[in-house]
Amino acid sequence: MRTIIEPFRIKMTEPIRQLSRSDRENALKKAHYNVFLLDAEDCCIDLLTDSGTGAMSTEQWAAMMVSDESYAGSKSWKKFKAAVQEITNMRHVFPTHQGRAAESILAETRLKKGDVVPNNSHFDTTRANVEYVGARAVDLLGEDGFDLARETPFKGNMDIEKLERCIAENGAEKIPFCMMTVTNNTGGGQPVSMANIREVKNVLSNHGIPLVIDACRYAENAYFIHEREAGYKEKPLLEIAREMFSNADAATMSCKKDGLANIGGFFVCNDDQWANDFQNLLILREGFPTYGGLAGRDLEVIAIGLFEALDYDYQVYRHATVEYLGRKLQRLGIPFVRPVGGHAVFLDSKAFLPHVPPLHYPGIGLVNALYLEGGVRSVELGSVMFGRKDQDEKEIPAPLELVRLAFPRRVYTQSHFDYLIEVIEEVWRNRKDIRGYRITYQPQFLRHFTCHFEPV
Ligand code: F0G
Repeated sequence: MRTIIEPFRIKMTEPIRQLSRSDRENALKKAHYNVFLLDAEDCCIDLLTDSGTGAMSTEQWAAMMVSDESYAGSKSWKKFKAAVQEITNMRHVFPTHQGRAAESILAETRLKKGDVVPNNSHFDTTRANVEYVGARAVDLLGEDGFDLARETPFKGNMDIEKLERCIAENGAEKIPFCMMTVTNNTGGGQPVSMANIREVKNVLSNHGIPLVIDACRYAENAYFIHEREAGYKEKPLLEIAREMFSNADAATMSCKKDGLANIGGFFVCNDDQWANDFQNLLILREGFPTYGGLAGRDLEVIAIGLFEALDYDYQVYRHATVEYLGRKLQRLGIPFVRPVGGHAVFLDSKAFLPHVPPLHYPGIGLVNALYLEGGVRSVELGSVMFGRKDQDEKEIPAPLELVRLAFPRRVYTQSHFDYLIEVIEEVWRNRKDIRGYRITYQPQFLRHFTCHFEPV
């Protein structure tokens, strides 16, 4: 087979700066050893997130110029609404400035103290929004999802038995909705099968519980279904995406991922009461319902990006780059979550740094080592992001200690990936010298963004 090439040419460039090792050491110290507090220009390869960091197409840039910036009922809104409806087939469409705004309004309008929200795995902002209104966010990931080395096709699936138990224990009246995150970011960027979405929907229907899809990476999930699930090989990704949404009653979306936009999100639903309640708060928080916190040009860009993400050749290339990295890591014996995720490779920092105890945050040790070695910025998904406290305020480590290398869409080329592999290999070789960290400052919510560390 020939090399799978980037299905685009580069028309505009953005310089990358490479700092010296000692400059990186100073930068990290100044950032209190938290890479979220680094200046982006001090990062050579920035894999902090695939969110809002993608490159737009010529079509998208061109569309910005014809955008309609009217406050109400703009032409750009009509294009946005038509695109979102063509894919989701939902009656009500509300733009939001990004995914978490949709989550927050959904949580505030539908949840109350003591409620329970099941999900395969909540993303951190989703969990925080559920907990902020006094509800409980419960993760019901299937057993496969916890076995980092097991090569099964749909490790993002929800465990149906756990879901049934959750409903039996809490009562359906305590569960205003259930969520499914596709692909499952927190659990390693792993996909959810159509069969699992259907099964979850069946169980929920028996109890009158609505299903809300967290659709950030819906196109990548559709691609995985196309490649891995029987019966979908001949179907276009658009058709697969529509089938996914046909099982849902509502969806939240961050267009910063599979909307191929730098900002934006939406909420869609079929229920009139849900829509009415959502709209009231949307106007208060985000803006008039036909722009919802976005400029007309953002609406234009998203209306195109949502479909570009469903382009089969684009998905083939994207997955080829992620698998390329996975194959090299495997050859080097470096521990990572298998199979590779849709938007990212997740290194297993527990196995990478077995000498660092969980509450010395091996993930932070690895993230900082990658930065110091080669200016690569990654992110910890472990005890800093997901650690909990018990009744005595004692910290409980997270079940998994992962480091995510998330890939911006259409941004880095194969030589960037080769450089990345060299950096990881060097860190792997010197892993015995890597130490853990302790937290010296932390806020109440979403501490990973702004907390300070010091080396142990
Ligand atoms: N849900 C999932 C599964 C996500 O991955 C994200 C964002 C959100 C919701 C919230 O969307 O950022 O537009 O408010 N994930 C980014 C990440 C930040 O790096 O994975 P948002």
